[in-house]
Amino acid sequence: MNIKYKNKMQLEILSKSNNEAFARITVAAFAAQLDPTIEEISDIKTAVSEAVTNSIIHGYENKEGIIKINAYIYDNTIRIEISDQGKGIEDIEIAKQPLYTTKPELERSGMGFTIMENFMDSLKVESVLGMGTKVTMEKKIKEKTTKEEQIQEENFYA
Ligand SMILES: Nc1ncnc2c1ncn2[C@@H]1O[C@H](COP(=O)(O)OP(=O)(O)O)[C@@H](O)[C@H]1O
Ligand SMILES: [Mg+2]
Repeated sequence: MNIKYKNKMQLEILSKSNNEAFARITVAAFAAQLDPTIEEISDIKTAVSEAVTNSIIHGYENKEGIIKINAYIYDNTIRIEISDQGKGIEDIEIAKQPLYTTKPELERSGMGFTIMENFMDSLKVESVLGMGTKVTMEKKIKEKTTKEEQIQEENFYA
C-alpha cells in the first residue's frame, strides 16, 4: 500500500470455516472508527465473508492453509486485502462473471465476486496459478453530518 494511511491492522487465520466469522467481525470492528452506518458495516462483513470463504473452499479446497487479512484506513476509506497461497485462479475475468463457479456440486451461487463488487466501491483480484490469490477491496464511508451541522443546514434551507 503506497498511500499514506491513518491506521492499519493485520490478521492471520487458518483456513477453517469457523474462522470466517472471526475475520468478518474483526474487520467490522476495525471499520467502526469511520463511524459507518449499519448498512455500510453489513456490506463490509458480507464482502469479507465472501472473500475468506473463497480462500477456504477454492484456494485451499478445505485443506489447511493461512489466510492473511490486511486492512487500512485512509481518508474516509477502508481498504481490505485478503490473500491466500492456495491453488490460484486460471482466468480472473471469467471467474468474476456472475453465476460462474468451478464448484457447482457444492451448490455455490457463483455470485461471490459480484457481491464483493457491488457491496464495495472497488474490487481488484490478482492471482497466479499454483501460487495464490489476493483480493483488494475499498469502501468509502460517507461522512455523517453532526446534529449541529444538520440544524445549521435546516436553518439555511428554512
Ligand atoms: N481464493 C480463490 N482461490 C482460487 N479460486 C478462487 C478463489 N476465489 C474465487 N475463485 C474462483 O472463482 C470462482 C468464482 O468465485 P465466486 O464468484 O465467489 O463464486 P463461488 O464461490 O460461488 O464459486 C470460484 O468458483 C473459483 O473457481
Ligand atoms: Mg464464492
